[in-house]
This record gives sequence, C-alpha cells and structure tokens, in this order.
Amino acid sequence: MTVLEAVGSSTDATTLRRTFACFPTGVAAVSARLDGGPVGMAISSFTSVSLSPPLASICVARDSTTWPMLRGAPRLGVSVLSDVHDLAGRQLAARTGNRFAGLRTTTTTSGALYLEGATALFECVIHDEIAAGDHDIVVLQILALAARPSTRPLIFHGSRFHQLATNQ
Ligand SMILES: Cc1cc2nc3c(=O)[nH]c(=O)nc-3n(C[C@H](O)[C@H](O)[C@H](O)COP(=O)(O)O)c2cc1C
Repeated sequence: MTVLEAVGSSTDATTLRRTFACFPTGVAAVSARLDGGPVGMAISSFTSVSLSPPLASICVARDSTTWPMLRGAPRLGVSVLSDVHDLAGRQLAARTGNRFAGLRTTTTTSGALYLEGATALFECVIHDEIAAGDHDIVVLQILALAARPSTRPLIFHGSRFHQLATNQ
C-alpha cells in the first residue's frame, strides 16, 4: 500500500501543487470590462455550490494582482473554456502582456466579459468572501447563464491542458 507523506510545516508548495494537480478540473475565465479595458484571469477552482439560491465559488490567491480589479466590477463573466481555448487558458494566466490579445470576446451592457466559443457562461456578482489560508474563497451568485453541453471542455490535469477523450 502507498505510504502517505505527513503534511507539516515543512511540506513544500510544489508537493501540494503536484498532488492537487492530480484532481482534474475544467478551466474558467473570470472577466469584466473595466474603464481600462478587459480584465480577466484563468481559474481552475470554479465549482458549483448551491442550486437554491444559485451559487458557485472560486478560490483566489491573496497575492493576485488581477482579483482586486475584478472584485470591484459590477458583474463578472465566467466563461468555461472549451478545447479550442488552450492558448487562451495560458494567456489568461500570463503575468505580462495583453491577456486578451487575439481572443474573441463579447461584453454585456453590465460589463461582464465572455470568451466566444466557451462551453458555459455564468453572469455573477460576489455573494460572500471567506478567508482561507493564502487564498480567499469567493462565493458567486449566478444571475444569468448559458449552456452549450455539446461543446467539449478544456481539461486541466497534472498542470497541463488536455482534451476530453470520448468513446465514440
Ligand atoms: C489553468 C490555470 C488555472 C488557474 N486557477 C487559478 C485559481 O483557481 N485561482 C487563482 O488564484 N489563480 C489561478 N491561476 C493563476 C491565475 O490565472 C494568474 O496567473 C495569477 O492570478 C497571477 O496573475 P495576477 O497577479 O494577475 O492575478 C490559474 C492559472 C492557470 C494557468
């Protein structure tokens, strides 16, 4: 049987990150159009929370420089990336350069910004923020949504992007 490594103060972030990365997720772009232009970031921690009321959550690093801008937006657009968005996923996490260069987007009158070709869209406002270690759990209230289940999602696993394999 595999021996588990006890987690203590000496456990390094790389070990934690590598182990968390074994849990496959989708990738979402959380974005808004602000006075200075489009602002957004790639998020793999997007999770459904509640049906009634409709809530979802993301976990955002306390040292994020993008989140303080986004959290002031009247509406947040969450785009669930599809398998054509692997470049967009990388670009939306870049620390330098224009994250939206070459990306096709649409913006609602409320300022929520979406990536074209996404597999699902959620228009959200912040419902609650809960401090959790070096991240904040941000609970999002969903005000509007659109689903395109036949569009295949981008998968994030082992710190890499993958496409969903089908049996057909
Ligand atoms: C696939 C992927 C998923 C990510 N998920 C998250 C996440 O859930 N939470 C988070 O705070 N940062 C996440 N990041 C990192 C951010 O996208 C971004 O790189 C980071 O916030 C640094 O930029 P900033 O200082 O502009 O915020 C993710 C990056 C990638 C590539």
